[in-house]
Amino acid sequence: MMQIEDPFIICDSLVKIFKVGDVEVLALQGLDLTIRQGELVGIVGASGSGKSTLMNVLGGLARPSAGQVVVDGQNLLKLSNSALTAYRQTQVGFVWQQGSRNLIPYLSALENIKLPMTLAGRTGSKANKRAQMLLDMVNLSDRYNHKPIELSGGEQQRVAIAVGLANEPRLLLADEPTGELDSTTSDQVYKLFQRLNQELGLTIVIVSHDPLIAQHVGRVVAIRDGKLASETVRRKATNSEPEDQFEELIVLDAVGRLQIPKVYRAQLNIQNRVEMEVIDGGLIIRPVKNLNETSSQGEIQIKRNPKKQPERQGLFSRWRRKQ
Ligand SMILES: Nc1ncnc2c1ncn2[C@@H]1O[C@H](COP(=O)(O)OP(=O)(O)O)[C@@H](O)[C@H]1O
Ligand SMILES: [Mg+2]
Repeated sequence: MMQIEDPFIICDSLVKIFKVGDVEVLALQGLDLTIRQGELVGIVGASGSGKSTLMNVLGGLARPSAGQVVVDGQNLLKLSNSALTAYRQTQVGFVWQQGSRNLIPYLSALENIKLPMTLAGRTGSKANKRAQMLLDMVNLSDRYNHKPIELSGGEQQRVAIAVGLANEPRLLLADEPTGELDSTTSDQVYKLFQRLNQELGLTIVIVSHDPLIAQHVGRVVAIRDGKLASETVRRKATNSEPEDQFEELIVLDAVGRLQIPKVYRAQLNIQNRVEMEVIDGGLIIRPVKNLNETSSQGEIQIKRNPKKQPERQGLFSRWRRKQ
């Protein structure tokens, strides 16, 4: 994982287990993630990979089963229930995919924004002014008194973002906020996130199943099976490459473990053993050939690789491990 100075969010070996009857579901399986103050980060991953669970943990809606989660210097596992409730109310804002989860249908846009302020004990003309200011900020100055049903999907999400910002959180979490929007409207919502990120210095984490989210955020991390699997980095445009380029890098955990994507495993018929070889400054991972002819499982047989000269090779190329 990338080492980040002065991190705002630290997830260290996060585990979240849901028990459904006798069945245990491992939603997060040792997830490591660090986010800097003021970053705009996208999280992608297949359905069921643990994205929402991570957002719920970061937002103080769920407590992890193991591991550490620190947000803005606060260890969320050590907060009492009442402190966690206060954290949820005042330090994080949420935007969900479904408009109905974000907004109360019978309240106007202004009233929806004032509701979380009222719950946090902020009322009166100051709260009213702030609600108006927030609607102005999301370019809805002409929609103060509209009810959600009188707003388009994109407008509803912009009100939802204003609601999320009502109590001046330092962190905004959005779980598939554009999931029900067309691409033009999604672009507008992403632009708004970018503006809030830049103008307010707000740290924003957006979950999306849209791989193109890389164009809208500073960094994209991908979750696979409850673990951070890869990170897409942006290579700035150069003279020879006029457009920014995106490159997906595989993430290693603290002890060097990495995940081989399921599609690659299927494509190459990789089961639970691979061969590794260092060549030309790189590392090759190959399916094991003739697995049946190698020794029984668990026993390590170290064979010299006859094709290579030992002097000029590293650990893995000099000795071919067959298990
Ligand atoms: N409250 C819950 N109870 C039981 N299982 C859950 C619960 N929430 C999530 N899960 C399971 O945890 C896994 C990850 O879910 P989730 O975080 O919602 O994934 P994503 O948001 O990436 O689609 C899934 O297998 C899901 O079924
Ligand atoms: Mg989800």
